[in-house]
Amino acid sequence: MEPSSSLPTEQRAPRRSFLAAAGSIVIGGLITLTPLFAGLAFFMDPLLRRRAPFKGGDAEGFLAVTNLSDLPEDGTPLRFVLRADKVDAWNEFKDQSIGTVYLRKLPGNQIVAFNDTCPHLGCKVDYQEASKTFLCPCHASAFQLDGEPMNKIPPRRLDTLESKTDPDGKVWIKYQDFQCGVEKKGAV
Ligand code: FES
Repeated sequence: MEPSSSLPTEQRAPRRSFLAAAGSIVIGGLITLTPLFAGLAFFMDPLLRRRAPFKGGDAEGFLAVTNLSDLPEDGTPLRFVLRADKVDAWNEFKDQSIGTVYLRKLPGNQIVAFNDTCPHLGCKVDYQEASKTFLCPCHASAFQLDGEPMNKIPPRRLDTLESKTDPDGKVWIKYQDFQCGVEKKGAV
């Protein structure tokens, strides 16, 4: 009967050694790299996952700010600091200020909420009771009570925020920051 290979035995031996060595390298590489990739995936996971920048709101991301009864009936804006637990990729910081808003109560208990960040370059606007306007101290942007710009400095009106009032009369705001220096309102 013919042998299965035409090579002589002394030539088949080195080929077997080469295959065994290559197999060992591949298996060794897999054993080494698998935990490395697992560790890398674990480290990168918080960066790749999109998560809200704070915790503490309701299921829709609204934060309780004040009571309807605490807002002036004549629509005068009041400023509120919103507090929540700030979170980044790895850390959580308890009870931090996440932003400030102006709230107005309109007839019919309608709420208007403004992010108080100036859409020009990001300073904070201040409500001026005497002129009933919002003014920015940085470059003199001015806004009417309804948030419309009064000069050509800001690229758009004041940014409004979503709000809701629950049956107990508590006012909730969905806080959001927006891009500055652009005409179109866009979340950051
Ligand atoms: S940042 Fe408000 S006017 Fe420039």
